[in-house]
Amino acid sequence: MSTIDWKNLSFGYLPTNANVRCYYKDGKWSKPELNNSEYINMHMAATCLHYGQEAFEGLKAYMGKDGKIRLFRVQENAKRMIESARYIQMAPPTEEMFVESVKMAIEANKEFVPPYESGATLYVRPLLIGTSAQVGVKPSADYMFMVFVTPVGPYFKEGFKPVNVIIDRDHDRAAPLGTGHIKVGGNYAASLISLDLCHKQGYSTVLYLDAAEKKYIDECGPANFFAIKGKSYITPKSHSILPSITNMSLMELAKDMGLTVECRKVPVEELSTFVEAGACGTAAVISPIGKIVDPNQNHVYEYSKDGNAGAISTQLYNRLKAIQYGDEADKFGWITIVR
Ligand SMILES: Cc1ncc(COP(=O)(O)O)c(C=O)c1O
Repeated sequence: MSTIDWKNLSFGYLPTNANVRCYYKDGKWSKPELNNSEYINMHMAATCLHYGQEAFEGLKAYMGKDGKIRLFRVQENAKRMIESARYIQMAPPTEEMFVESVKMAIEANKEFVPPYESGATLYVRPLLIGTSAQVGVKPSADYMFMVFVTPVGPYFKEGFKPVNVIIDRDHDRAAPLGTGHIKVGGNYAASLISLDLCHKQGYSTVLYLDAAEKKYIDECGPANFFAIKGKSYITPKSHSILPSITNMSLMELAKDMGLTVECRKVPVEELSTFVEAGACGTAAVISPIGKIVDPNQNHVYEYSKDGNAGAISTQLYNRLKAIQYGDEADKFGWITIVR
C-alpha cells in the first residue's frame, strides 16, 4: 500500500481490496456483500448490454486533517440514482442500501483513501445494471447494484487554472425530452464523439447548446455550466441537464456569500456579458473557463486575461473544498463521516 505515489495518481483505475454487491431477484434486494473479483459474471443477453439499462453515480471520499473520512452529500447521489433507475424502468436501490454499500466499500478499502493534502481522493462509483437474459425490448426482471472505489489524482493536473472550451453545434448529448437529466451510460456514449473532437483541437471540453434550437447553454462536457455577472451566480435550467450536486451546493454557497442565484435559460449571446465562467462537478469541483470559442459564429468569449480564475469562482472553490475536507464547519449538514 505504501507504494502508491499519491501525488502522481492519474484520474484512472487502480485495483483495491474489494467491492460491494447487492442483487435484485423476485422483487427484492439482497443485503450488501463484499466481493473480491473485479469482474462480473453476466449473461450475454443481459438488458444492460443491449438496451442500455445502466445507471451510475460518482462521488468521492475525502481524508480530513483529523484523520476522519468524509462523504459529501451522499444522500443526493442516492436520490439521483433512484431517479435514474425509475426513468429507465430499473429496480431502484433504496437510499439506505445505497449509503450502506458506499460506506462498506470505503471501509473495506480504507488504506486506499489518499492522505489529506495529497490532492488525491478516493473515487466512489456506484453502478446499477439490468441482468436478466432477454432479447425483446423490455425491462429486466433482475438487477445488480455494485459499488467500487479507486484512488484518483486531481482531475486537472495543472490545478485550478482556466481551461478553454469550444461550442459544439454538430452534436447533442441528450434530446430535449430525453435522458439528459439522469445519469445513464447512453448520454456518455453520445458525448464521446464531441469530447474526442474538442480534445483533438486542443480544447479541454465542449459546451453543448440546447438540442432543439441551439439558442441556449446546456452542459459543459460532463459538468454543469455557471457564470458570474455582477452579484449574480447564473446557471442554465433545462430538462436535458444533469442536476449536479456540486452546482446545487455552489448555489447554496453563492447565496450564503450574498450573491443572487439565477437558475434559468441562458441564451448564447449572454456569454458576452459574463465576468467569470466555469464548469462544475465532483471531479474538479470547479474548472474555471478562460475562453469559450464559438467556431460557427467566429467568436471568442474571454473570461481570464491574466491566466487566473476569477475572484468569486476562487472563493466558491475554496469554500466547497474546505467543507469537503472538514476544514470548514459543515453548517449545511452536507457531510457524512464514514469512520
Ligand atoms: C453530464 C454531467 N453533468 C454534470 C455533472 C456534475 O455532477 P456532480 O456535481 O453531481 O458530480 C456530471 C458528473 O457527474 C455529469 O456527468
